[in-house]
Amino acid sequence: MSTTEDRKRKKPQEKEPRTNSPKRHKSEPVSPPSRNTKSKIDPSKNPYLAHWYPAEEKKDDWGPLAKFRRHSTTAKMANIAEDGPSNPFSGSELSDRYFNILKGRRGLPIAAQRDEFLNMFQKSQIMVLVGETGSGKTTQIPQYVLFDDLPHLNGYKQVACTQPRRVAAMSVAKRVADEMDVELGQEVGYSIRFEDKTSSNTILKYMTDGMLLREAMHDHLLERYSCIILDEAHERTLATDILMGLLKGVAERRPDLKIIIMSATLDAQKFQHYFNDAPLLAVPGRTYPVEIYYTPEPERDYLEAAIRTVLQIHATEPEGDILLFLTGEEEIEDACRKINAEVDLLIREADVGPLKSYALYGTLPPQQQQRIFEPAPPPFKPGGPPGRKVVVSTNIAETSLTIDGIVYVVDPGFSKQKVYNPRIRVESLLVSPISKASAQQRAGRAGRTRPGKCFRLYTESAFKKELIDQTYPEILRSNLANTVLELKKLGIDDLVHFDFMDPPAPETMMRALEELNYLACLDDDGNLTTLGKLAAEFPLDPALAVMLISSPEFLCSNEILSLTALLSVPQLFVRPLNNRRRADEMKKLFAHEDGDHLTMLNVYHAFKGEEENQPAWCREHFLSYRALQSADNVRTQLQRIMERLEIPLVSTDFSEKSYYENIRKALVSGFFMQIAMKNPTGKAYTTVKDNQDVLIHPSTVLEKESQWLVYNEFVLTTKSFIRTVTHIRPEWLLDIAPGYYDAKDFPKGPVRTELERTMDRVRKRNVLKRR
Ligand SMILES: Nc1ncnc2c1ncn2[C@@H]1O[C@H](COP(=O)(O)OP(=O)(O)OP(=O)(O)O)[C@@H](O)[C@H]1O
Ligand SMILES: [Mg+2]
Repeated sequence: MSTTEDRKRKKPQEKEPRTNSPKRHKSEPVSPPSRNTKSKIDPSKNPYLAHWYPAEEKKDDWGPLAKFRRHSTTAKMANIAEDGPSNPFSGSELSDRYFNILKGRRGLPIAAQRDEFLNMFQKSQIMVLVGETGSGKTTQIPQYVLFDDLPHLNGYKQVACTQPRRVAAMSVAKRVADEMDVELGQEVGYSIRFEDKTSSNTILKYMTDGMLLREAMHDHLLERYSCIILDEAHERTLATDILMGLLKGVAERRPDLKIIIMSATLDAQKFQHYFNDAPLLAVPGRTYPVEIYYTPEPERDYLEAAIRTVLQIHATEPEGDILLFLTGEEEIEDACRKINAEVDLLIREADVGPLKSYALYGTLPPQQQQRIFEPAPPPFKPGGPPGRKVVVSTNIAETSLTIDGIVYVVDPGFSKQKVYNPRIRVESLLVSPISKASAQQRAGRAGRTRPGKCFRLYTESAFKKELIDQTYPEILRSNLANTVLELKKLGIDDLVHFDFMDPPAPETMMRALEELNYLACLDDDGNLTTLGKLAAEFPLDPALAVMLISSPEFLCSNEILSLTALLSVPQLFVRPLNNRRRADEMKKLFAHEDGDHLTMLNVYHAFKGEEENQPAWCREHFLSYRALQSADNVRTQLQRIMERLEIPLVSTDFSEKSYYENIRKALVSGFFMQIAMKNPTGKAYTTVKDNQDVLIHPSTVLEKESQWLVYNEFVLTTKSFIRTVTHIRPEWLLDIAPGYYDAKDFPKGPVRTELERTMDRVRKRNVLKRR
């Protein structure tokens, strides 16, 4: 099996000669010397490798950057180059729009500190930058770096800027492509899971922190980059935390790599301290005062209170848009519908202007996300009461996205947060109170363009006494199986001594190691197995990856590939509030008697068979076209990885009785730790080993009596549910995961009794077979 590193090392020979044009003609950025060279010096200074870096001399005689020397430029030089007439990076003529945007950029708070930034950037390897929201960190700093770091003159390197969220990576890349007057995907691109919009011309890449981590697995020293900017570091996502630990080590081995840690809040000292007292640049914002209002009494129904507040603002407050924070897609869509209905009433009854609502959440397609930037509707008549927009958003809008024109923020004080209980191995998204830092961040959104108001739908005493100061880092709230696998793949064996900014609980770590051991991704000594190495190649949770890799053994890798893709995208089935019955009838058309996984597969096959008008077909069948399309895309990406790893794509003949059974068995091969058994009495189930009482989620299609189920997800709301379930046989558990299902290891009780009975049955059957 050829590894990416092997292939990478061969790359330089394929390099084409450079021309005078600033555009590159290569198919991929060239990797500089591999880590084997152990070079502490700038590799471009190594005479034996000089042929890798011909660009510097060639570029010298070209265009506005001709006189620029790496790491010794000034703001003035950059400003002159930015003034044109031609694009300093692409050589094309600059558009009017470019100059319009440029004027705005020069007025951003950060622009006044460009020289100060450059000074610090040039002098230090790692720096921390904090700036208030909207000061220009995400959009400007990477461009400032480009003009000084000149990555395109330095062995075709790139500048990376990470974002915790896909939406932010995409939308900021688009904005910066506009600012630099280049086509998105050319000089400026983005890379998120299952979507790479970059090219050989890309010098600035916005990407999710998760993607950079994946890249690090193949290229431990991240040699493709000359500068890495970790943005929104204060969000402390799992991937950012791991990246920080990793980059700390990489920085020592790559003195040529520059690292910038950017954060919105003033948690700066912690970052500085962690990065060996790195220098700090603080950028003051240009924010206006925000008046905070609390409710005198706690609100019983925050959704209802939020809608009421939005309408009140609309009816009584002067011009200015509204930002309402809610917790998730369903709630947000529901709120938008209700706001629209209520506003129609209000318009008829009172003298108010139009109010347009926009939803914003992570799974919304990019074009729709972009709509939040549309201007508010004009008043019905000139001089009449103002028109407004209200953006109803998850905490995506809390940082990273800047929506100009917001003057009012409505903050019910909740967000969906991941929580993990290692004792019962359940990770779930729970609607939980936000932290004080989040509340402040939310309020700050109101004071961007002029003095604003923030309506907190909780009491002042709740704010002071009940909200924690900072949200706990994700690493303390997550199942770490995936992270441990990633760290192992990153070559970090000693997890105990890995330099975490906040080390996870030992129990969580133990659980992760145990889980990976059961999945046969780690051996008993904690080393990666061949299966583990393969699993780490997939951007999937270990159970999904193991299922996919094992699926050829069950003669159904084609189907499991589809299913894996379907399980990686948002909900396929659409169930509008006003048309639930019809939606449920439609879902029944695809139902498979053995359960939800096979039903999803039926949907996908029908979708692929529909050649004429897929969007219309989806609408008619209450299916999400967007989710199916995205599953199709994910499938293609995963298929490429399978082909690269030489995992065969096979199917059982559809006419064979075992067609569906094989798929169910393959499911068990990955998810044998997510099994529930029906309680001898009643409707409830108990999860095997973790012993939790659960109900099947009402969305299931499963109707038949089923003693054993494999489930995809544990959902904790007011009750515990298992969602996406499929009927299985206990014999398969003994066959596929005998170590995990050794009856001896179970306490006395119904599960153990059933396992023993099954074992007996299998034994007897085998005896009979032998006769
Ligand atoms: N998509 C966009 N459309 C129009 N203007 C934008 C857009 N994105 C950013 N801007 C402008 O650029 C300015 C700087 O935005 P930027 O995202 O760089 O700020 P930031 O310092 O990263 O803020 P945050 O802390 O919220 O992430 C904004 O104030 C806004 O005026
Ligand atoms: Mg930002």
